[in-house]
Amino acid sequence: MKVVLTHALPDDAALRVDRLGDVCSWTGAGPMPRGALVEAMADADGLLCTLVDTIDGDLLDLAPGLKVVSTFSVGLDHIDLAACAARSVAVGHTPDVLTETTADTAFALLLAAARRLREGIDYVRDGRWQEWDPDLLLGRDVHSTRLGIVGMGRIGTAIARRGVAFGMTVGYWSRTAKPEAEASLGAQRLALDELLETSDHVVVACALTDDTRHIIDARALDSMKSSATLVNIGRGPLVDTDALVRALGSGSIFAAGLDVTEPEPLPADHPLLSLSNCTVIPHLGSSTVETRSAMAHLAVDNLAAGLLGEPLPRPADVG
Ligand code: DGY
Repeated sequence: MKVVLTHALPDDAALRVDRLGDVCSWTGAGPMPRGALVEAMADADGLLCTLVDTIDGDLLDLAPGLKVVSTFSVGLDHIDLAACAARSVAVGHTPDVLTETTADTAFALLLAAARRLREGIDYVRDGRWQEWDPDLLLGRDVHSTRLGIVGMGRIGTAIARRGVAFGMTVGYWSRTAKPEAEASLGAQRLALDELLETSDHVVVACALTDDTRHIIDARALDSMKSSATLVNIGRGPLVDTDALVRALGSGSIFAAGLDVTEPEPLPADHPLLSLSNCTVIPHLGSSTVETRSAMAHLAVDNLAAGLLGEPLPRPADVG
């Protein structure tokens, strides 16, 4: 069996992959270049990739013996699931193990944006802190406000739980109703327009699909309160970046906290980074030692099962 690994895995997960067969592992700096991936795939039985690798029909056609694609991510927008299904290639991903960590990151961004932590840190570092000032860097309350969640899947629900613990009332937009969240968290399902108009803080946590690309566009941003913050913990293209730059620059929303951006990586001279009311981190949602280790092991579990032709522990939903 030949296995292609587009990125080194943490701790003993790498040893487990070694036991599965011949391993072709990208060890260069940065993501595995497309050319190297194409070359490696010719006789591959299994692929363990990350969210920066594009897995499309063209690549799959170069790997006629491929049995399984296992991605080190919960997100699947980088994989053409229909192309995999058409070629009987199983696809696995890493839900659940990263839910709580990613929800923590969303909340950290929400607090950082609403309470202007980036400006406060710069203020101290720049030596501008000379006295206590009652008007200094006034933020917006998070506790006891209205939280609007766009996408009430596992991560959205975990964010809602944090909101309830902060005394927030929770509204959500989702394609399907979430009766459990409604019963246990008092979450209220709303039309997207109503959610945007009434929420004090909006967190985008849905999957990126053709339907959700730019779900937060200029019109959506215009409908938000001028005191509202926006957090994106999903994927960069869920938000229209140019419209967000305008909304933050004009003060039509208060602040934003972004774990993901479009483009990604964000160039250092990007207009978003010159806005003091925008906090950007480099796609760190699930980035803890514990969670990345759990993701790696689940990705290897999926890979191993797929190589043996067994059901994957966490298959992608191709429906
Ligand atoms: C994922 O797994 O899809 C996340 O974006 C990683 O943080």
